[in-house]
Formats: sequence, structure tokens, C-alpha cells
Amino acid sequence: MAWKTLDNMDLNGKRVLIRVDINVPMEDGRVTDTTRIDRIVPTVRDVLSAGGKPILMAHYGRPKGKTVPEMSLSHVVPALSDILGQPVTFIDGNYGEKIDALGTGEIALLENLRFNPGEEANDAAFAARLATLGDIYVNDAFSAAHRAHASTEALAKLLPACAGRLMQAELSALEGALATPKRPVCAVVGGAKVSTKLDLLGNLVSKVNHLVIGGGMANTFLAAQGIDVGKSLCEHDLADTARDILAKAEAADCKIHLPTDIVVAREFKAGADHEVLPADKCPADAMILDAGPDTVAALEAVFADSNTLIWNGPLGAFEIQPFNFATNAAARKAADLTRRGDLVSVAGGGDTVAALNGADAAADFTYISTAGGAFLEWMEGKTLPGVAALEG
Ligand code: 3PG
Ligand code: MG
Repeated sequence: MAWKTLDNMDLNGKRVLIRVDINVPMEDGRVTDTTRIDRIVPTVRDVLSAGGKPILMAHYGRPKGKTVPEMSLSHVVPALSDILGQPVTFIDGNYGEKIDALGTGEIALLENLRFNPGEEANDAAFAARLATLGDIYVNDAFSAAHRAHASTEALAKLLPACAGRLMQAELSALEGALATPKRPVCAVVGGAKVSTKLDLLGNLVSKVNHLVIGGGMANTFLAAQGIDVGKSLCEHDLADTARDILAKAEAADCKIHLPTDIVVAREFKAGADHEVLPADKCPADAMILDAGPDTVAALEAVFADSNTLIWNGPLGAFEIQPFNFATNAAARKAADLTRRGDLVSVAGGGDTVAALNGADAAADFTYISTAGGAFLEWMEGKTLPGVAALEG
């Protein structure tokens, strides 16, 4: 790897600025999913055990350069302290003084960096001010690495910099799945719209052996092949684009898998009356809400034949029953194969992880990324500014 890790740094007695992503879901002032906090523990622990003073820096929400009290990171401190197993000192002003007062073994957290307009502007002066607070910079926020912000980009160039444990784990999981995978590789790309995943599909067809297209996106591809999709979610204006992707896939020897049977309903609601039909038999007044059992059986066979699986996006309207059928069945198959040692499976994206959790499959996956947008951009083949800045 082209970047340094904590193992390459002398941390003893140093103030270590660690960029983390603790942009966690909250309800009524409480953290409802601690995954992102859980996953930064190894870095903080390793910095502490090497004698460094961890000073955590992060953003919360999108306050757009202003102080928005509901977006204060102070709300995350109780969960953070709990998970790290010791009190975390919250620093909302007088950065320098408070950091000087920190003792060895203590952990600090700075207030939401995005309260300062300099953060999102990748402002050199703001980065320089942050740089005065530390001796070493660690980026452990893979999920924010697609942003070129002061704490992810400019700051990395001002201090000796390295990747934290979570950053390392995310990058090696993704490289293992897409850069140097054990073939055949299967990618599952689902979700509502092709328009949000064009770059992704374009990149994947030249990298993977099987590309499974699911969810609303599949309807656009079916329609592009002249199939009537009734009232289904569909981007008819992207028919040409969809045909281009199919042609590019064929030229690259990437097999595209679309639904061969569908689950249709007249209304988008849990428990709606539904029926299973061949993919080209969607009634004019119905919408496709899931893939059918034949499609699932075919996917299971593709997974069984693959050695690596990368998954982003659900296969149907997984948030309402019974239209989570295809997503759940496919997820469980991937989980089984992984548990048996027959598949390396990597998944990312907020909806995807929620869907895999709903299917009770996430725990068996080889790796679940904490990233949404950054996972997607990495899979699109884009350079992530936060990663590039670590490459010395
Ligand atoms: C996320 O939650 O996806 C990351 O923390 C990045 O947040 P952003 O999309 O507001 O930059
Ligand atoms: Mg986001």
C-alpha cells in the first residue's frame, strides 16, 4: 500500500489528530446505530497504547459552516465514552489550551468541524489552525474520504500523516474485492435509479464477470429491451444509456443478469396484493416491486459459481414486506457461501447494509463497509481525495 499506517509512526507522547466519521444516526438525542463508533475503537486503542494522545475530529450532518446546536458532536460523547470505555473530553472552543491540558491516556473530541466554513471549503488557513493542535495526523474516516475537506485533504499535507486501522481495513477489503479479486467476481447493483449509478455500472462491466442489476434500475434495463414495465419506477429517458451499458458488457465478456420473473403489485405498500409473473408480462396498471423466485434461484447459482461478491443496493422494495423476498434470499445465500469459506463478500451503502441486516446476513459477510458515498465512488474507480492525500 502506498500509504503509511500507525505502525510506521512514532506516537509516544505525541498529540495525534484522528479524523473519524461518527456521522451516526440519532433519534431524540441518542445514537441509534453505533457501528461507525464501534469501528474506530482499534485506532484509538492503538494510539493510546503507543503512548499517543488521541484528539478526535469529525463532522456531523450538514450545518453549512454555521453552529447548529442539534448537530453538535457533544450529543455523541456519551455513546463514544461508553464504547471507548473511558470519558471523552469534549472541546468546543479554546482548542489549544484544552489540548495542552490533556493528560496521557486521555481522549478528546473536537466540536463538529463543519460549524466552521473552512472545513468544507478545504481552506488552507483552517487546516493550518487544525495542524497546530497535533503532531501527527491519522485518517480513519474512509466513509468521508470522497470529500476534499480541510480535515480530510489539506490537513493531511501539513503533518506527518497515516491511515488508521479502519481506513486500512476498508481499503484492503475493497482492493481484495475489485482490484485483485479471486475470480469469478460477481457484482450486485441495485437501488432505485440507474441515473445515480451510471459511473458505477460503466466501471464494473470492465472489472467483473457477472453483473446483477436489481431494484428499480432493472426496470430501466428491461424497458430498454422493449419490455413493457407498466407503472414501474423506470427512467425511460435512459434507454440508450442502458443499451450502451449492455453492449459494453458484452464486449467485455461481463454477463449481465436481469430479472426473468417479477413480483408486481398495484400499490406500494406493505402486504399489498401481489403476483409473480414472467418479466415481460407486467400488466399496464401494475408495478414491479421485486424479483421473483426463478430470478433468485438463478442468482444463487451465480453466487455459488463466484469466488468474490461485491454488493451495493437492494434487489427490490426491501423496506416493505413481502417485497424484501429477493434481497433477503440472495443475501442469505451469500452469507451461507461466505460462512462456508466459498465466497469473499463485501457490501457497502446505507440501504444495502440495512437490507443485509434485515436479512440477518450482514454478520456473515466478509466485510461490511461503513461507507455510503465513498464506497460507491471507490467502486466507480474514482480517486478519493482523502485517500490520495495520504499517499506520500
Ligand atoms: C456519510 O455519512 O456518508 C459521511 O459521513 C459523509 O457525509 P456527507 O455526505 O455529509 O459528506
Ligand atoms: Mg452521504
